[in-house]
Amino acid sequence: MKILIIGKGGREHALAWKFAESSKVTQIFVAEGNPGCELIAKVKCVKLTTIDELANFAKNEHIDLTFVGSEDLLVAGIVDKFQALGLKIFGPNKLAAQLEGSKVFAKDFMQKHGVKTAKYGNFSDAKLAIEFLSKMDLPVVVKASGLAAGKGVIIAQTKEEAVIAINEMLLDKIFGDSGSKIVIEEFLDGVEASILSFTDSNVIVPFVSAKDHKKIGDGETGLNTGGMGVIAPNPYVTYEVQHKFITDILEPTLAGIKAEKMDFAGVIFFGLMITKNGVYLLEYNMRMGDPETQAVLPLLKNDLFDLVNNTIDKKLSDTQVTWHDKASCCVVLASGGYPKDFPKGITISGIEQFSRNDCHLFAAGVSKQNNDFVTNGGRVINIVGLGSDLNQARKNAYDNLKQIQFDGVYYRNDIGKV
Ligand code: AMP
Ligand code: GLY
Repeated sequence: MKILIIGKGGREHALAWKFAESSKVTQIFVAEGNPGCELIAKVKCVKLTTIDELANFAKNEHIDLTFVGSEDLLVAGIVDKFQALGLKIFGPNKLAAQLEGSKVFAKDFMQKHGVKTAKYGNFSDAKLAIEFLSKMDLPVVVKASGLAAGKGVIIAQTKEEAVIAINEMLLDKIFGDSGSKIVIEEFLDGVEASILSFTDSNVIVPFVSAKDHKKIGDGETGLNTGGMGVIAPNPYVTYEVQHKFITDILEPTLAGIKAEKMDFAGVIFFGLMITKNGVYLLEYNMRMGDPETQAVLPLLKNDLFDLVNNTIDKKLSDTQVTWHDKASCCVVLASGGYPKDFPKGITISGIEQFSRNDCHLFAAGVSKQNNDFVTNGGRVINIVGLGSDLNQARKNAYDNLKQIQFDGVYYRNDIGKV
């Protein structure tokens, strides 16, 4: 079977590695991937970007299954296009992708179907938005409705900060069209958790929980990033939290998907806030997380090709999804300076020789110059340690990441310290 994975980060390298484990999978293309993916024998990277280019490739190469990594093409309707051409693809259709593509749509869906979420209002008029602030406690959260590469959420500590955020989004259009509608919502105090899941629109099967570490500095300090590390399972997701998640969030979400006739097979990634008043849904993402995927997939026992096909064939309720009784810890090695400006093209040593004993290396912002791996992005390499418990997993990750070296390498020292 031939697989096409769309994306180029550590998430897509991890997906390629997991698909390659399946004896049924003979060839994997990653568009556009990164040269780290090609360390797997079955993998070839291809330079394709538009939906038309990808669909033509899938048709001409007789691709059996396409898996989409990131959100932009899903929101643009790649699934509908592939399906119209008779091509098999895993992911939400354009309607369901709105659960990630529009926060206004997602919040209205949550409210309509009784999914527990922060109190909110939706606005496209700055004057009405500012008036609404008088009804809200501080801090208050202002969000651009559309995709904004993780930058569209402002936690305002004062009313003045909230007014600035509203004006910047609605009047100055700093996020372009993505900010032409905004959500203003109640600030929730608590601990975050990421729960990825697969759905065939008849059931939602949650994966092992994960905990992202979003800030650049140790102790969750400094600027926000795309994610500096992840642990799985998330120690804060106790039995009681899991139960609340299922009754207050997962079940009403599934009822909503059925009621709205969204009918798709794909991923739902629940971004949760665990508070003293219960478990709240912050957001839906309709794709795998990055770097959550890198930490979660090594714990999955199932053949990923079978699991995805069973989901597309609406047989998820008959499929046992099983997990290794282990913990994982993913540490991101970043370019010095990230998430602000950073240099590119710096030679990386240790990738080819990396010894994978109870440890994985997934490449993200890397490219090749002549025969050398060089840095090509902010988040460069993911090192994932596995272990019988979180401490062992952390130790494996931190011991093994020393195998990789490049000038200016930066990583957090406290991933998984809870
Ligand atoms: P979102 O894209 O909606 O998940 O927001 C990005 C990040 O902003 C989340 O992962 C949280 O860290 C933070 N955030 C979003 N909404 C809230 C909220 N209502 N209360 C507290 N923090 C929030
Ligand atoms: N790690 C968060 C995300 O993938 O959105």
